[in-house]
Amino acid sequence: MQIQGQTQPKPLARWLRSRWLHPLNDAVAWEQMLCAINPMWSRRDYPARVLAVIDETADTRSLWLQPVARWPGHRAGQHVVVEVEIDGRRLHRSFSLSSAPTADGRVRITLKRQPGARVSAWIQQLRAGDVLRLSAPQGDFLAPADDAPLLLIGAGSGITPLMAMVEELRAGGRHAPLVLVHICRNEEDFIFGARLRELASRWPAFDLRVHFSAVAGRPDAVALTRLLAGTGHCEARVCGPRALVAAVESLYRAAGVAGRVRSESYRGRVLPAADGAASAHAVHCTNTERVFTAGADTSLLQAAEAAGLQPAHGCRIGICMSCQCRKRSGSVLNLRTGERSSEPDELIQLCVSVAQSPLELAL
Ligand code: FES
Repeated sequence: MQIQGQTQPKPLARWLRSRWLHPLNDAVAWEQMLCAINPMWSRRDYPARVLAVIDETADTRSLWLQPVARWPGHRAGQHVVVEVEIDGRRLHRSFSLSSAPTADGRVRITLKRQPGARVSAWIQQLRAGDVLRLSAPQGDFLAPADDAPLLLIGAGSGITPLMAMVEELRAGGRHAPLVLVHICRNEEDFIFGARLRELASRWPAFDLRVHFSAVAGRPDAVALTRLLAGTGHCEARVCGPRALVAAVESLYRAAGVAGRVRSESYRGRVLPAADGAASAHAVHCTNTERVFTAGADTSLLQAAEAAGLQPAHGCRIGICMSCQCRKRSGSVLNLRTGERSSEPDELIQLCVSVAQSPLELAL
């Protein structure tokens, strides 16, 4: 039947859309066909070819990648979400880019082997020529644009976005003081140690301060204050475990300049506990009729997994959205954004949300 006012497609257009030519009319089929010929021809996300693999320390490896030309380019301090397929499951993890922007678009990711971290281990075994999928660069963990004194503080693999910043600032011909405080186990564990020492030896503005915890222990507040001596609570960027981020934030808060610290923790953002957050709350899963308990110190994803549930997830740090779940009722705090969701039927991210009241989730 022809609806009045609607024109029938021409015979050629009808033929082109016929089921005989179905693969040519189907975006998924096209994608599969192109990837089978060359994975770099994929139109989904941004394929990137591994150019070189470099061992930085005994357990840390860098991959230089060449993304497709349409990749938007990054700023030092940003990260990408990497997609891999392991045993038929698509998994996503977020990694800081450890290189400054380059003229030819190459980027570097640097991964430390962690017990149980399947995706990192899988990426670490890639070789030159293999292809990964990247997201567009994300995040606002950037060095300030002005030429004022800057303090960078990193621990362990938290050095990765800071290394990109150091390289970017060096390339920009910076003259203002730049202090990098780095905490790691020992010299063998010092990622990019040789490059940073070389920069410090011939760049007068760059002051490298290294704390080896195997020798001097984990820095407490006194040791941290000593490491930051003379920096005058200038603008700071911190990347490392929660305890380090919290310690630096508390020093800056005590000095009345909390706004000068921007941080990124590789275990997720820490916010002060909110009202009523101290107690654990019952979580009722309406789809499976399961009930578990979630405290304020555990994400809903971790609490659900501890109870034997297997919610979908990817990055576990609030970026990829694969853990989104509908909250039927109750109140949660998003640790990444600081936003509270108290209305019924709101979408929340399980990996960065903590319970603030009894909850009903569509799990
Ligand atoms: S698992 Fe990626 S946003 Fe939660």
